[in-house]
Amino acid sequence: FETGSLSGKTVVITAGPTREAVDPVRYISNHSSGKMGYALAQAAIDAGAKTILISGPTGLPVPDRVQHIPVISADDMYRESLVHAVDCQLFIAAAAVADYRPAVLAEQKIKKGADDEMVIRLVKNPDIVAAVAALPQGQRPFTVGFAAESECLLQHARGKLERKNLDLIIANDIVAEGIGFNSDDNAVTVIDKSGELALDKQSKSGIARQLIALLAKKLPASGTN
Ligand code: C5P
Repeated sequence: FETGSLSGKTVVITAGPTREAVDPVRYISNHSSGKMGYALAQAAIDAGAKTILISGPTGLPVPDRVQHIPVISADDMYRESLVHAVDCQLFIAAAAVADYRPAVLAEQKIKKGADDEMVIRLVKNPDIVAAVAALPQGQRPFTVGFAAESECLLQHARGKLERKNLDLIIANDIVAEGIGFNSDDNAVTVIDKSGELALDKQSKSGIARQLIALLAKKLPASGTN
């Protein structure tokens, strides 16, 4: 990890969960802690990058000198990500974006009815990292995603790398003991078209520093985007 290895570069990181409102008091979300994204933001700052952290609700302290853009829903995160992605050289999607949101947002709190069942219709959210990866040449940053999988980890991660047209993907086993969601530790495999590299179990900040060092080497040497 070289101090200054990202100086002059802008890094945009998405982190945390998103919340998809059902009515004024309820939402659908997930257990993402945001820890991996925040650790990446700290490592990017330490490497000298201008760092923008677009984060869903986490309650984590924002690292010093990081520009924090708080968002709630996937739609908010999508909008902010596209605004900032066009002016950065490295985009890292560490957020656990909700795949679906309620088709309608009830204006008033939904009342308990007589029925024992209720149905909430969901519609798909936009894929943020795929939209960034689809930006035209000259606006498209080096685009990195995460794959959190409970089975066939590397196979699914390779599929996502292809399908979303990413430059690199970080595969994350979410069922292994003591790593992944909400944990302070992680173990990942980095996959790109040149091959695979496993990073052993360690703190998320250790993983983040290794990832940022590796990404700094992969970025095009000069020019914007
Ligand atoms: O498709 P899946 O959600 O498994 O892909 C995970 C990767 O895609 C992560 O990098 C995540 O941040 C990103 N993603 C996104 N927008 C979505 C869904 C996932 O940026 N709507």
